[in-house]
Amino acid sequence: MNDKEESTRSRKIVWTGLTLVFIAALVFLLGFTHLLSDTVAPWIGLLPKDPHKAALVIMQQAPVIDGHIDLPILIREAYANNVTAVDLEALMPRHVDIPRLRKGHVGGFFWSAYVGCAKREEEGDDFTDATWIVRDTLEQIDVARELIAKYPDTFQLATTSDEVQSAIYGGKIASLIGIEGAHQLGNSIGVLRQYYALGVRYVTLTHICHNAFADSCGYLPGIIPLHHGLSAFGRRLINEMNRLGVLVDLSHTSDETASQAIRLSKAPVIWSHSSARAVHDVPRNVPDNVLELIGKGEGQNDAVVMVNFAPQFVADEGKANIQAVADHVEHIAKVAGKDHVGIGSDYDGISSTPDGLEDVSTYPALIAELISRGWNKYDIAGLTGSNLLRVMKGAEKVAKDLQAAGTLPVYDLYHKRPDLPYREL
Ligand SMILES: *[C@@H]1O[C@H](CO)[C@@H](O)[C@H](O)[C@H]1NC(C)=O
Ligand SMILES: [Zn+2]
Repeated sequence: MNDKEESTRSRKIVWTGLTLVFIAALVFLLGFTHLLSDTVAPWIGLLPKDPHKAALVIMQQAPVIDGHIDLPILIREAYANNVTAVDLEALMPRHVDIPRLRKGHVGGFFWSAYVGCAKREEEGDDFTDATWIVRDTLEQIDVARELIAKYPDTFQLATTSDEVQSAIYGGKIASLIGIEGAHQLGNSIGVLRQYYALGVRYVTLTHICHNAFADSCGYLPGIIPLHHGLSAFGRRLINEMNRLGVLVDLSHTSDETASQAIRLSKAPVIWSHSSARAVHDVPRNVPDNVLELIGKGEGQNDAVVMVNFAPQFVADEGKANIQAVADHVEHIAKVAGKDHVGIGSDYDGISSTPDGLEDVSTYPALIAELISRGWNKYDIAGLTGSNLLRVMKGAEKVAKDLQAAGTLPVYDLYHKRPDLPYREL
């Protein structure tokens, strides 16, 4: 084509563009935005009126970053850790596979490297006997990392907030790793540092058992406190987590542990998968007096509470559904603020699911419910991921500052360990 044709063509393109902008502006100025079809609306920065379509538009920019997905334990239990046998591109048992992650607009999640509590008689009174737990945790981390590596077009390992964002910009699912209970540390802060080196970025202080560091809320009501919150060693653990940049996760902890940890931690904290006790009264949910410790004021700390979908934590039997989960989100938003709520479904770790939230493909249904309750796109973006990213950035800054100030690593040992006494040589 010659220069003249080229310039005529460019003029046509520009003219068409200007005409479209003019029409859009006219519609907008005359207040006829309600006449715009849901297909045209996003072109001029408006959301479709249909909350489900609006949810999908928002989630293209603000995909879900889930605080707790239990895929690795499913691989352990159903595949004996044989990653070759796992096909995440096909329909997987339970709630998570690649097609459903994509359909659900998932931008990232914490892969939970979970190993359960030992029985009381197996671990002994001092928690020192269940030595296989560290081995099994390493295997869980291995399964997560091997699966992430097996699907490089889908998953990208992420260890910082910047890496989460660049994975999402690249169209990948940012893959973070967390461990679910400080019992998985084998009572050792040195083990924490090595998990960090393998990519672990949160440690839940307890699972359903007490451990050498902190008290758990148990599962059913009535667990008897052991330390009344954090032990002295648990406080040292939090010091080291702050120095490294490992998020303190307060899901599963007792109320005493949670309120002590949120005050002690220099870095913002998370609840990777917990809902609101005022909405449904079970120990695993966060009570209002703890939610009130979240914020910028005196004696408060930044945090994000990522709502758990487990039906038994959401509502009375048979009543867990999208609306009930949205009630938890809104309650946490009401007490702590919309900047402090997130999503931590616990998919693959729960045996049943709320009606309408059957698997990772269904997050848009929850977002649509919140849009229909008046949540705007900024509120939604906070909920789906940016609240978590702010908390991660806060923890990264604390770690950087502590390291820059020359804070020494914590070498304290668990005082009940029989194998490492000081000795004159
Ligand atoms: C792992 O799974 C693959 C595919 O099903 C199978 O060929 C292989 O023998 C399995 N490996 C082990 C060690 O079981
Ligand atoms: Zn859990």
